[in-house]
Amino acid sequence: TREDKLELIAQKIKHFPDFPSKGILFRDICPILKDPEALTAVTDLFEERVREAYPRVQLIVGLDARGFLFGPLLAQRLGVGFVLVRKKGKLPGPTTSVAYTLEYGKAEAEIQEDAVEAGQKVVLIDDLLATGGTLYAACELMKKQKAEVLGCMVVIELKDLNGAGRVQPESVFSLVQY
Ligand code: PRP
Ligand code: ADE
Repeated sequence: TREDKLELIAQKIKHFPDFPSKGILFRDICPILKDPEALTAVTDLFEERVREAYPRVQLIVGLDARGFLFGPLLAQRLGVGFVLVRKKGKLPGPTTSVAYTLEYGKAEAEIQEDAVEAGQKVVLIDDLLATGGTLYAACELMKKQKAEVLGCMVVIELKDLNGAGRVQPESVFSLVQY
């Protein structure tokens, strides 16, 4: 059932205090990937959400780097394409970028200019929502490309940091909340 899947996923998440810097409680999704049943559960629940809430999706957009682990599996299930938002300097050809801050630093998100067409309906995927800086930057990139963001999905949401507020008006769906 849905509850069993959520419990399996939650049980697989590991916690590391003071990583990558003092005061950060790092939530690690690696054990989910190591367990095929847990990884299937994540894909199942993401697929269920898209079919219910965003049936008109045309592209899944994944965020560097851990969004790349879940996004393509979901895109294949849905029969749509997958596009990468990368950290700056990794993508060839003409690109657009947006600078942002995240819970433990700052970075710049970049996309190939021809990756998404104007009017395309996209769903954004990442492993975790903390301050929302990363997803906000990705939404800004989508705006620049004139894509239509239907919603965002993450495995883990850190509620105290109110990342969902930062990403508004886009909605964020999460599987496990802390
Ligand atoms: C982590 C995580 C999210 C982001 C969330 O990525 O995977 O993308 O931080 O933080 P925020 O909501 O405060 O923006 P990170 O930049 O550490 O990169 P990685 O996926 O390459 O490890
Ligand atoms: N990205 C931003 N904050 C994080 C956290 N606490 N754990 C894992 N990834 C993160």
